Amino acid sequence: MREMVQIMLKGLLATFGLLGSLLAAPQLAAQNREVGRLYAENCAGCHGRDLEGGQTSSMVDDVWKYGADDASIARVIREGAESEGMPPWKGMLSESEIRAMVVFIREKGEQARQRAAKVPKPLDDQPVRSREHTFRLRSVAENLATPWSLAFLPDGRMLVTELPGNLRFIEGGKVSAPVAGTPRVRAQGQGGLMEVALHPGYATNGWVYLSFAEAGANDQTRDGGMTVVVRGRIRDHRWVEEQTIFRAPLWSYRPGGVHFGSRFVFDDTGHLFFPIGERGHMQDAQDLSRPNGKVHRLFDDGRIPPDNPFVGVSNAMASIWSYGHRNPQGLARHPVTGELWSTEHGPRGGDELNLVRKGLNYGWPIITYGMNYNGTPITSLTEKEGLEQPVLHWTPSIAVCGIAFYQGDKFPRWKHHLFVTALAQEELRRLVLDGHRVVEQEVLFKNIGRVRHVASGPDGFVYVVFNKPDRVARLEPVSE
Ligand code: HEC
Repeated sequence: MREMVQIMLKGLLATFGLLGSLLAAPQLAAQNREVGRLYAENCAGCHGRDLEGGQTSSMVDDVWKYGADDASIARVIREGAESEGMPPWKGMLSESEIRAMVVFIREKGEQARQRAAKVPKPLDDQPVRSREHTFRLRSVAENLATPWSLAFLPDGRMLVTELPGNLRFIEGGKVSAPVAGTPRVRAQGQGGLMEVALHPGYATNGWVYLSFAEAGANDQTRDGGMTVVVRGRIRDHRWVEEQTIFRAPLWSYRPGGVHFGSRFVFDDTGHLFFPIGERGHMQDAQDLSRPNGKVHRLFDDGRIPPDNPFVGVSNAMASIWSYGHRNPQGLARHPVTGELWSTEHGPRGGDELNLVRKGLNYGWPIITYGMNYNGTPITSLTEKEGLEQPVLHWTPSIAVCGIAFYQGDKFPRWKHHLFVTALAQEELRRLVLDGHRVVEQEVLFKNIGRVRHVASGPDGFVYVVFNKPDRVARLEPVSE
């Protein structure tokens, strides 16, 4: 009797053992669900530590048997290709982890491409051949501290902002002493003195616009900060006659040092557009009672235009033009169509180029092509009804910053192309638009400093603001 039980037990164990091992393949090993760990513990055994394809296909060679687009890669991870030996991961990886895995695969692919590619790393004054023009880079001003933005004065001088809080002139390669009396800034993290621009009627009215991070003033908001916009005039090297154009209520100030946005665009009809980043509080981007995570539109004197989309909507700020933005740090008006274009610094993956239109929701953080910096997912959703898609997204991120449409005549084949800067990837890119599509992208140079901003100079040169090393330089044509 005892023997029979033992035999039965053995049989049961054998059956269950076999079933168990069938069911157990694959089993998710990772406890920590950061995407790099998930990959290392579950995929690297077959695909190689660097995705180079140990036992099976490489994921960094740009060859995709099951389709090259994000959706196809996500599908093969989810469903597997079991007859070929690729296990399905649905049920073990959540949809948002599968999205994070796609971002991770894209990052590794880009790293491999960059190791193989020859992108120009120009030394000053050396000709660089690009697709349309040969140019050289020439320093315009050095001895700056984290320069942020530039404005061109009619007399040939420039104004430059430095993030720690100074506004200076650049004249003939020399950098002036700071203009006295400019606003006191909260210089912390990404905040400080940021944008500078001249009113379109500057020649007659003398207005200079500045944006800066301001500290909150009472206990509740002691460590808080928010972006403020002012205008003033410069007389005898002093900032005078300051007027507030935009200052949010104190209760809305947010602690932390990230995501202040900040560029200015004036249109032909007396409006000023400017973005404010979500200040690291991503849900605020969807909250219309708060200023952060929005593009705003005001009259150039700060009044609210009556045709703004949220005028009269209860609990909404009337200055809001569009919302659902993370950290737009590039804003430019198309020289022909007048449309407003913006670049938005994304999370890890998911930097965006957007066409900014009245009243629309750009989706952050409900939809995004990126994941958290620590490799954990944000969401699996990259699109959703009622939320705007970017015109383009960069995954992996390039750390996109300022942008400018080229409007000069020194580089005729670049006319109206969109120049895009990148901090982490240290790039200047040239984008060709066809209507609302990007039809060409070229990296003009790389790895010579963080590229903070770009501007189309009235003299036809392309001006570039670098951080680390801090300087302003310009692209000049070289005759071929
Ligand atoms: C047991 C081995 C094994 C493991 C573990 C594995 N894969 Fe695969 N994977 C394969 C094989 C084999 C193929 C190729 C199938 C083919 O050639 O048809 C493949 C194909 C793929 C493809 C499609 C490649 C293409 O060319 O289209 C992707 C994407 C992929 N795997 C991702 C992953 C990810 C992400 C993980 C971890 C979550 C993973 N794989 C884990 C074996 C594995």
